[in-house]
Amino acid sequence: MLRSGLAGVLAGLRRLATRYRLATCSAPIRRFGTDLHVGSRPRLWAPERIEIGDHSYLGHEVCIETNCRIGRFVLVANRVALVGRRDHDFKTPGVPVRFGHWIGSQRTPSPYRSEEVFIDDDVWLGYGAIVLSGVRIGRGAIVAAGSVVKEDVEPYSVVGGNPAKPIGRRFTSSEEIQAHESGVQAGRFRSSERGYDHWIVQPGHKRTVP
Ligand SMILES: CC(C)(COP(=O)(O)OP(=O)(O)OC[C@H]1O[C@@H](n2cnc3c(N)ncnc32)[C@H](O)[C@@H]1OP(=O)(O)O)[C@@H](O)C(=O)NCCC(=O)NCCS
Repeated sequence: MLRSGLAGVLAGLRRLATRYRLATCSAPIRRFGTDLHVGSRPRLWAPERIEIGDHSYLGHEVCIETNCRIGRFVLVANRVALVGRRDHDFKTPGVPVRFGHWIGSQRTPSPYRSEEVFIDDDVWLGYGAIVLSGVRIGRGAIVAAGSVVKEDVEPYSVVGGNPAKPIGRRFTSSEEIQAHESGVQAGRFRSSERGYDHWIVQPGHKRTVP
């Protein structure tokens, strides 16, 4: 009884921590779904927007420094970074890069200010992956730990390395993808700060017509 009371209090504190961390997010447009988790010491900043869909997870020390739209059911491991590819100008002769034009400047907007990282639903970004702005990561894709992603990633592909290249497929056939997507769409999923054993994980099943 006492144990479950304490577990409930700790879960409540974790929920509050996520809310607080999202509240520290600094971007003119911020949209957050429900059932999110944000780990400790995040940096959430963007010149224009940060959007995160329902049931997504950001691990510890995730660093977002570019516009991003993150879908639903996205798993972002610890120490992943989404960064602006050209957030500091290094091409103007006579200006040291330290003083080069910065993407966040209000006085002189950068042509790259609206670049974003787009991460579709059901994507896993492995530990320490770095994704540069301008990249779209397709639905259901997996990015291996430590990868540097500088170009678009196909849906359901597995990519890895620096620069990230295809290293596999998550599913082997379009039938498997269809079954997966209909299971997700018709299913019920919800996390809990009490731990995985308390999560709702109920894939939907297609009704077979007799
Ligand atoms: C991407 C991943 C899921 C692939 O796992 P897998 O399906 O078991 O793949 P395999 O180990 O069979 O590797 C397939 C190929 O990809 C390569 N590969 C695997 N992980 C890699 C990585 N992080 N970077 C570069 N290449 C990688 C393998 O060397 C192998 O290449 P080869 O066929 O030339 O030998 C796994 O490697 C990974 O990175 N998981 C993320 C773990 C993580 O971040 N956990 C944090 C908790 S949220």
